[in-house]
Amino acid sequence: MQIKLTRESILWAYRLLLDREPENQKAIDAQLQGAANTQELRQNFMRSQEFQNKNQQTHHLPLAGDEPPMNIENVSDRALLQVLFKHIQDTWSYLGETEPHWSVITSEQFLQSQINTTKELFYDSGRANVVQLLKTLDRNGLDRSAFKSCLEYGCGLGRVTRWLSEKFETVFGYDISRAHLQSAEHYLENQGISNINLRHVREVKDIENLPKVDVIYSAIVLQHNPPPIISLIVKEMITALNPGGVAYFQVPTYRMGYNFSLEKYLHDEATRREMEMHVLPQGTIFDIVRKEGGNIVEVLEDNWTGFRPKERSNTFVIQKSTRLV
Ligand SMILES: C[S@@+](CC[C@H](N)C(=O)[O-])C[C@H]1O[C@@H](n2cnc3c(N)ncnc32)[C@H](O)[C@@H]1O
Repeated sequence: MQIKLTRESILWAYRLLLDREPENQKAIDAQLQGAANTQELRQNFMRSQEFQNKNQQTHHLPLAGDEPPMNIENVSDRALLQVLFKHIQDTWSYLGETEPHWSVITSEQFLQSQINTTKELFYDSGRANVVQLLKTLDRNGLDRSAFKSCLEYGCGLGRVTRWLSEKFETVFGYDISRAHLQSAEHYLENQGISNINLRHVREVKDIENLPKVDVIYSAIVLQHNPPPIISLIVKEMITALNPGGVAYFQVPTYRMGYNFSLEKYLHDEATRREMEMHVLPQGTIFDIVRKEGGNIVEVLEDNWTGFRPKERSNTFVIQKSTRLV
């Protein structure tokens, strides 16, 4: 059941979740604008630093450590990888043509019916992602003054790319959906941003031909691809890094009950045009990273998939070795 938001619901969210009154009317308006229903409002409050600081006892580890393994079939045959890729491409092209903003952030307020009034909020939301990336580089002592080029893999509508363009001289935005890219191009042109090169990923071969860059960023992208495609993208992202360069990417790494069988997947999913959510275990990612000459700098727990029990999403920070492997 969805309950419509009122000023009263915002007041009570402050009282129950933060133990205080809102600062002023502006703060109430911002919360009213930032959520379409009580579920989204609750999520926004519970993700805030203030809620987390004040409610440390409510945080539970997503995994207890006694979870069973997942069975994930590996696929390396090129023709089959292309079949999987094409299916994901068809899905995202369809989403890009029908609900582009909602497909990026699945909140009701970003449906096409509302986007005229919420577009600014949509693009503003990408700024925090870049702040997080930069703070992560700083926390790990990675000198970002040396990083001139950045590639966002799965750039969508340019929500994050437009902020990356303020921090790097050259930025590449790669995406599987032409419709998303066309919309991104239009937006960036309107904003007068000219240092972003948008590139369409048409086939598997294009993933294998990424340009050499200093930083690669990818969030809420790999999760929408079946595990063999996630593996391929992770491998190619590390390959594309200049020596000493850093890849920062998010992948769900465990979900209780998740399995991947190629035959079952092709049978069950091939004709659907729905957003899929997949998983690749940490161990597989570590193996790929090592083989491609990457060093694991940090693995963060993140909440890109929401806080669900028995499910874990991680953000990986990988630095390419400065030595040849
Ligand atoms: C949820 S949106 C996120 C967009 C952007 N990363 C952001 O945070 O605003 C996912 C994007 O990834 C793209 N995508 C999904 N699978 C992809 C793949 N295998 N290669 C390139 N782009 C992909 C989709 O077309 C879509 O634009």
